[in-house]
Amino acid sequence: MNRDRDSDLWWKSAVIYCLDVETFLDGDGDGVGDLRGLIERIHHLDRLGVNCLWLMPFYPSPNHDDGYDITDYYAVDPRLGSLGDFVVLVRAAKACGIKVIIDLVVNHTSDRHPWFRSSRSSPTSPFRDFYVWRDEPPPGPHPENVFPDAEDTVWTYDERAGQYYLHHFYAHQPDLNIANPAVRAEIEKVAGFWLQLGVDGFRIDAVPFLLETHGLPEGTDLDPHLLLKELRGYIARRQGASALLGEVNLPPDELVTYFGDEPGDQLQLLFDFPLNQYLWLAIARCDARPLRDALVARPPAPAESQWANFLRNHDELTLDKLTEAEREEVFAAFAPDDDMQLFGRGIRRRLPSMLGGDEARIRMAYSLMLSLPGTPVLFYGEEIGMGENLDIPGRQSVRTPMQWSPERNGGFSTARPSALRRKVPEGRFSPLAVNVADQRRDGGSLLAWMEHVIRRRRETPELSWGECEVLDLGPDHVFAHLCAGDDRDVIAVHNLGTVPCEVAVPVEPGCTIVDLLQGDAQPTAGEDHRLRITLGAYGYRWFAVQPSGRHRAP
Ligand code: NOJ
Repeated sequence: MNRDRDSDLWWKSAVIYCLDVETFLDGDGDGVGDLRGLIERIHHLDRLGVNCLWLMPFYPSPNHDDGYDITDYYAVDPRLGSLGDFVVLVRAAKACGIKVIIDLVVNHTSDRHPWFRSSRSSPTSPFRDFYVWRDEPPPGPHPENVFPDAEDTVWTYDERAGQYYLHHFYAHQPDLNIANPAVRAEIEKVAGFWLQLGVDGFRIDAVPFLLETHGLPEGTDLDPHLLLKELRGYIARRQGASALLGEVNLPPDELVTYFGDEPGDQLQLLFDFPLNQYLWLAIARCDARPLRDALVARPPAPAESQWANFLRNHDELTLDKLTEAEREEVFAAFAPDDDMQLFGRGIRRRLPSMLGGDEARIRMAYSLMLSLPGTPVLFYGEEIGMGENLDIPGRQSVRTPMQWSPERNGGFSTARPSALRRKVPEGRFSPLAVNVADQRRDGGSLLAWMEHVIRRRRETPELSWGECEVLDLGPDHVFAHLCAGDDRDVIAVHNLGTVPCEVAVPVEPGCTIVDLLQGDAQPTAGEDHRLRITLGAYGYRWFAVQPSGRHRAP
């Protein structure tokens, strides 16, 4: 790789941090997080070392799906602040070298969006064709609704319209009709608006559903990938260095097509949902093989694109790509109670509680995620090891207020606790035990460790750009990979199990080896040109190996 390209194609090696403004910091004491609060805490993100902030939806919304049900694409929810505050935030982030990407939720609107109100009001409304209407649902089979707990169909009859409308998500989230050029023009206008306000790209919600052709009139000629290319082209014309991060939960061979053709002309970043699920299976089994196999099977991303890696996100941890037996294994290990599971396919807990608060295992999991080839994405609170609050229904259990201090409401808000929409957890993961302020003062804390490892990751672009090779070093519980850079290779080794072991990695004679995480004595290879690595329970090491003959590019 070369550094010029690294800054140009910044998304290839960024570290992304996702947060919901509403739960990050309440700047005015009304119980709701807001942009003023986030601006005040931008230094926390700067110090953590992340360089891209992904904001979950902050638009006006009735909040029946936590903001993923939008009533106005061109405004900020007044509870969270104003457009003026938004621009201040973007500038504050940029001043710290942090890019800002925002959720673009255009598969559907809220049913209270003025477009839908107008659309349902009359067949002659100019917005009628903004949505997908049918006198009768088309002949089956129909796709399954994404929220099977609440909806048993994707077609709901609307009394006012006298027709059925399509909704892949909740019934209050009618799908936009992407086949309508006026809808596509609106989507571009929305993206253009926020680009003009300084954002660096978008996390695109529910991409396969957005491009789905189910229910569209017979003979509709729609090439989904062409639509993505058009959107990408538009965004590139408006602002060349912006990135599109896609939420596409599909098997690897279908997923990879959303990058487009070399060097990548559709989405620059794709969450690797399959890898995430096999990573969890590997952690559950204390066996690296599911992860090894998934990484070997992962199709290469085109030159200007990148896989996005994560452990947990704001939704349930979906395990839908595993077999039923595999899913049950992960449930048994990490979500044994029914109340911890959701939709029969996912887990509504955060990582530290899933791992029983075992700090060594937690660090191993994050070291692994942060060393995998791709762009790491963190969810707020992961840096301090926050847990969930299972008293909060559904997926919201992991979206509790950020825990800043041991004070009331975890320092998130000065409001009465009863004024908060979601309460902080009690017990082992309460703010008394887990908070930023205490961890800041403790050099051995998870937060201090995260800062160190995230910085290291950013100093190690080989992990993003290098050719990756999965190494088999013997024990099944050891996952090892090598990322080959131009002038040095980076090797990371992780023990997913509790059995200590020694493994040996062959290296070139005369190479210089640097321990990237522990940085104590300089490791050397033995006379047999093998680097011996001792790993305790859940041990992990990262090394840079510079062969003597390999020179830095001029
Ligand atoms: C995916 C989002 O991550 C989720 O939270 C939301 O409910 C659906 N898309 C619908 O927008």
